[in-house]
Amino acid sequence: MEKIVSLCKRRGFIFQSSEIYGGINGFWDYGPLGSELKRNLKEIWWRSMTRERDDMAGLDATIIMHPKIWDASGHTTTFADPMVDCLLSKKRFRADQLTPLSGTAWFWTGAVDNDSGKVCNDPFSMLQLPGRDANAVRKGAILFYKGRGLENPQLQGETTKEVTNSTQYNEENGSLLTEPRAFNLMLKTHVGPVESDDNVAYLRPETAQAIFAQFKTVCEVSRQSVPFGICQIGKAFRNEINPRNFTFRSREFEQMELEYFIRPDEIAATFGTVPDGDPGGEPQPNWGWKAWHAYWLRKRLEWYETIGLERDCLELYWQTPEELAHYARATVDILYKFPFGTQELEGIAARGCFDLSQHQKFSGKSMEYFDEAAKAKYIPHVIEPSAGVDRMLLAVICHAYHEETVTDDKGKEEVRVVMKFHPRVAPIKVGIFPLLKNKPELVAKAREVQALLRPHMNVFYDDAGAIGRRYRRQDEAGTPFGVTIDFDTLGEDASLKDTVTLRDRDTMKQTRVHISELLPMLLSKIQGPQ
Ligand code: GAP
Repeated sequence: MEKIVSLCKRRGFIFQSSEIYGGINGFWDYGPLGSELKRNLKEIWWRSMTRERDDMAGLDATIIMHPKIWDASGHTTTFADPMVDCLLSKKRFRADQLTPLSGTAWFWTGAVDNDSGKVCNDPFSMLQLPGRDANAVRKGAILFYKGRGLENPQLQGETTKEVTNSTQYNEENGSLLTEPRAFNLMLKTHVGPVESDDNVAYLRPETAQAIFAQFKTVCEVSRQSVPFGICQIGKAFRNEINPRNFTFRSREFEQMELEYFIRPDEIAATFGTVPDGDPGGEPQPNWGWKAWHAYWLRKRLEWYETIGLERDCLELYWQTPEELAHYARATVDILYKFPFGTQELEGIAARGCFDLSQHQKFSGKSMEYFDEAAKAKYIPHVIEPSAGVDRMLLAVICHAYHEETVTDDKGKEEVRVVMKFHPRVAPIKVGIFPLLKNKPELVAKAREVQALLRPHMNVFYDDAGAIGRRYRRQDEAGTPFGVTIDFDTLGEDASLKDTVTLRDRDTMKQTRVHISELLPMLLSKIQGPQ
C-alpha cells in the first residue's frame, strides 16, 4: 500500500488536500491523472446506468437541501458512530474499530496533591503495554491526575488485574478510554447571514435522499413508469471519526447512487406468482423485491468487469439481520480485496418503502404512484445500488499496480512499475512519441497523429528523453498504447511510409500500423468487445 500511495503522489493521481499547509485529515485532491481516471469511471457508470437503459432518468441535485430531509431520513437522529476518547491524549476513536488488548491493567481510586493536599477521587486505569514497566504506567496515571488539577499527585488505592481482549484501552499509550458515545457524522453549516439554530443546514451525507425527495417530479417529467430508476453522481460529506486507509474512508467523497423504484410484492402478485429469490433472466412484471435485488447484484457485478475488476477480485458480504440498517430488508455489500483488507466498494440495499413514506409523512406531500398496468395506487419500494467513486478508483489503482522484472537491450535487469488499467478507464489512452525531437519532419508527423487522435481520446505527447524512458513513464501512468513516429514513418523504407509502431503496455510488443488504420484500431481496443 505504501508503494501505491507513493506512486499516486509521484505521478499525480492523488495527493493530500491543502498540502502546503500540512494537509487536512480525510480530504484528498485528484491530480492530472487521478482526475482523468475519476472522470472515466463516472462517465462509464453514468453511460451504462442511464443512457444505455430505457428505464432510467438522471438527477443532479444540490449538496445542501432543506434540513427536514435529514429528519425524515433519520440522519439527524441515527446517523452516528460510537466514539470513545483517550483520557490522556484526548484522541478520538471509533469504538467499533478498536483493537482488543490483553495484559496487566493497573487501577487507581484517585490521587492526593502532595503540596496542597487537594484530593481527586476520579478512578483511572492504564494497561501495561508490551515493553513498558510499572514506572511508565504510573507516569501515565500521574499525567492524568495533573490534568485534573493536581500539581504533584500521589497515586491512591493501586491494584492490578489481568485483562484479555479488552477494548477499554488506547493501544497507542495504554490509557483508559471513555465509555462509547454516539457521534453524528453529518457536517453542519448555516445558511444566510445569521448563525443561529433556525438556519442550520447539513452538507449531504449521501446523494440518495435528493432522489427520494424529487421522486414525484422526476417521475412526471421523465414520463417513466414503475419499475424505473433515478441515478445521481455527486459529492457527499461525513465527519468520519477516523479517516483512514488513504482515500478509503474520507470526509469528502463522491457517490454514484441508483434508486430503483419497484412494485410492492402484493402489487407484483397481480401479474403472477412473485418469485421467492433470484429467477434470473430479464425483468418481469411479477418481480418482487427479492428478484430485483438479485437482478441488481448481477448487473453490478457484470459492470465491475467492464472496468477491469473481475469477479475473482471481488467478494460478497450479506449483512446479518443485526447489522441491517433500520430501513433495510436485505443488503449485500460488494467488497474488493485491498492490500489493507477486504473492504466494501458498494452496498446494494432493499429499502422497502421506508424513504418515500418518511418524506410523505414529513413533507405532507403524497408520494403515491398510480400504476396504470396494475390499476393500483401505492408507494413504490426501492432497491438501491450505492457505490463510492473514491473507493472504486482506489480499487482500480490497487488492481492495476504491477511490478515486473524486465531485461533491457543490453541485458540489464530492472523493475518495471506498470499500471495495468483496463484501456476503457486508463487516464491517458495513447502516448505519442517522435523518435527524436530535433528532427522537424518527425515532430510534424507526430503532431499530425496527435491531431488525428485527440478529438477521440486523451493523448499525451512526449518528446523528452530516450524512447525507453518515455515508455516507462507511460507504463507508470497506465497508458495502454504508445505510438512512435520514426524514420520509416517518413518513408526511409518506402514500403513502411506512413506507418507507425504501436506498443502494447502489457506485452511491450510493437507492431507496425498504417496511420489510416490507427484510429479505428485504437477505438476498438479501448472499447473492448461490446
Ligand atoms: N445511500 C446509501 C449509502 O450512502 P453507504 O454504505 O453509507 O450507503 C455507500 O455508502 C457507498 O459510499 C459505500 O459503499 C462507499 O463506497 C461510499 N462511502 C461511504 N462512506 C465513505 C467514506 N467515508 N469515504 C469514501 N467512500 C465512502
